[in-house]
Amino acid sequence: MKQNQVGNGSDYKGPNRVFSGMQPTGALHLGNYLGALTKFVDLQNEHECVFCIVDLHAVTVFQDPKLLAGQTREIAAAYLAAGVDPDKAIIYPQAQVAAHTELAWFLNCVARVGWLSRMTQFKDKAGKNSERVSVGLYAYPVLQAADILAFKATHVPVGEDQKQHLELSRDIAQKFNNDFNVPGFFPLPEPLIKGPGARIMSLRDGNKKMSKSDPSDNSRINLTDSPDKIAKKFRKARTDAGMVPDNLDELENRPEVKNLVGIYAALARLSDQDVLDEYAGQGFGTFKPALADLAVEHLRPISAKLNDYLANPGDVDKVLKRGSDKAAEISMPIMDDIRKIMGFWGA
Ligand code: AMP
Ligand code: TRP
Repeated sequence: MKQNQVGNGSDYKGPNRVFSGMQPTGALHLGNYLGALTKFVDLQNEHECVFCIVDLHAVTVFQDPKLLAGQTREIAAAYLAAGVDPDKAIIYPQAQVAAHTELAWFLNCVARVGWLSRMTQFKDKAGKNSERVSVGLYAYPVLQAADILAFKATHVPVGEDQKQHLELSRDIAQKFNNDFNVPGFFPLPEPLIKGPGARIMSLRDGNKKMSKSDPSDNSRINLTDSPDKIAKKFRKARTDAGMVPDNLDELENRPEVKNLVGIYAALARLSDQDVLDEYAGQGFGTFKPALADLAVEHLRPISAKLNDYLANPGDVDKVLKRGSDKAAEISMPIMDDIRKIMGFWGA
């Protein structure tokens, strides 16, 4: 990522800024960690980073008001435990910064209904119920675009499942720049998806992504799972009767095996082929315990820190307060410019 170089036709000349968010809708799992959190930690040393806990996105489906603040604190604690440093990166809850909702409305008037109706995540989440889900769930990707653009973020580290939402954010940014004749006002944000952990699958079904909302807890490794539980879940993970293969082609028809090899590679920061070179010809009776040991050793310090933060909510709240102030400070002048560009009275 070079300074001032955002590809694909953007005229944006501003500095690079990284933005990402996670929903406070339950404990984080290994997919969130490898797909997004580890990238947050890597990026904070080189770039200005803004990491949000997207509580406004969470309430697109009903959240118990008694639990929401605690869930938000939990995600913040997970950011901190994974190594996001509040002296380097900004960490804050979305609902604390008014720019998100305000810009989401403006961008609702820029985005087209046809664009939103193509969003596969909405179709998956709404299922047959699409008439009865909230309007917020439908408009969710516009709020996501607002999150990013309220900070003029140029780069967005996310897992593979967010690719389509990021494309929409780029389309909305481009249309705003065109409609109001302000070339290069918004950057066209680039997703940072590549990497070994971009799509971690369920341990029970290699064709389904690992997800907070899967009813089977055995389908995922939570960052808060005990070492015993982690070992048990990997032991029970679905595989086939074969051995670990020696080449990548053979992984293509064995999604569960591919997933476990991918998890090993992401945790050890190796390539899939490196892992095959080490375990080719071995049975899963050998590979699974090795993977469990690796995961336990990797997650042990994180889950210890996570529990420390959860025991000291006041410390987390201080980080969130400080982050909210900084996020408001960055987004305020950008919102002032947007109101001027759109021609609102008083702007
Ligand atoms: P969410 O839990 O939906 O708020 O997702 C937070 C972040 O984790 C997003 O960047 C997702 O793309 C990423 N993520 C979620 N599930 C997975 C998965 N199974 N594999 C890789 N990344 C994931
Ligand atoms: N939609 C994202 C998810 O479910 C979360 C999110 C909301 C996000 N706003 C964002 C991610 C802005 C990146 C940038 O994972």
